[in-house]
Amino acid sequence: MLDAKNVKIGFIGFGNMAQAMAAGLLLRQAVRPGQLYACAKNWEKLRGNTEPRGMHPCRDAAELVNSCDLVVVAVKPYLVADVLAPVKEQLAGKIVVSVAAGKPFAAYEEILAPGTHHLSTVPNTPISVGEGVIACESRHSLSEEEWALFCDIFGKAALIVPVDTAQLSIAGTLAGCGPAFAAMFIEALADGAVKQGLPRALAYQLASQMVVGTGKLQLATGTHPGAMKDAVCSPGGTTIVGVAELERRGFRGAVIDAIDEIERR
Ligand SMILES: NC(=O)c1ccc[n+]([C@@H]2O[C@H](COP(=O)([O-])OP(=O)(O)OC[C@H]3O[C@@H](n4cnc5c(N)ncnc54)[C@H](OP(=O)(O)O)[C@@H]3O)[C@@H](O)[C@H]2O)c1
Repeated sequence: MLDAKNVKIGFIGFGNMAQAMAAGLLLRQAVRPGQLYACAKNWEKLRGNTEPRGMHPCRDAAELVNSCDLVVVAVKPYLVADVLAPVKEQLAGKIVVSVAAGKPFAAYEEILAPGTHHLSTVPNTPISVGEGVIACESRHSLSEEEWALFCDIFGKAALIVPVDTAQLSIAGTLAGCGPAFAAMFIEALADGAVKQGLPRALAYQLASQMVVGTGKLQLATGTHPGAMKDAVCSPGGTTIVGVAELERRGFRGAVIDAIDEIERR
């Protein structure tokens, strides 16, 4: 029986996303390095990205699928069909987990052999430090045991959030594009503080920990974000002055519009 101690996980494509996932799994000790395999286009680069971590590089997708029980499809979305075509039959009987944006269950039903067990997800890069989000399409063909195994392993490095097919894109946008917005906010806060005389490195440290702490506080308490804002705005105080200025500049509207623009693409 497959479990977290014996499952072999392979990444087809070992770029930013796959490396973030592998790093998070290893950091959280969800699996041992020897349980992880990867293949990519450039062999020497792949060796450099896998061997120092104790992972196994594979020459091609066929070697990888042959060695693994759970295969993570982590190439660019436009390459998925071509890369999986030669291993289509081998993948029947494995657990296939896609991280490719815009490739839901229905797309894989066209690509994979009938009856292949597969799940479409959208993870985000903070998984590399064990603080990720993986939005998962509720419609999948994993067995209960396979789904439990996936949650057991990847849930150690990320919050696993099942969503309806129609919501997969927007959930992925929020969690997957959000880190860029959050990083811009951190940078902007630090720029403001540097302008006022705080050293740059200290400003980034303070801003980042403030974002981490605020997110953790919201998750731990479930408090409405508006109430969290109110809680630090004392009457006639300083925070409300900043809040009013952000409102005047359309801060929240700009973020909402950014999400709308992404979804319009
Ligand atoms: N980055 C994110 O934040 C993020 C978030 C959510 C979902 N995703 C999804 O994750 C997937 C990968 O994105 P990424 O940002 O990690 O891209 P990336 O950094 O460009 O990595 C792509 C990987 O695919 C490999 N590759 C290219 N052609 C291949 C082939 N024929 N056979 C096997 N491997 C091949 C590349 O190998 P070489 O390095 O040797 O060229 C590279 O390792 C995409 O589908 C994307 O939608 C990414």
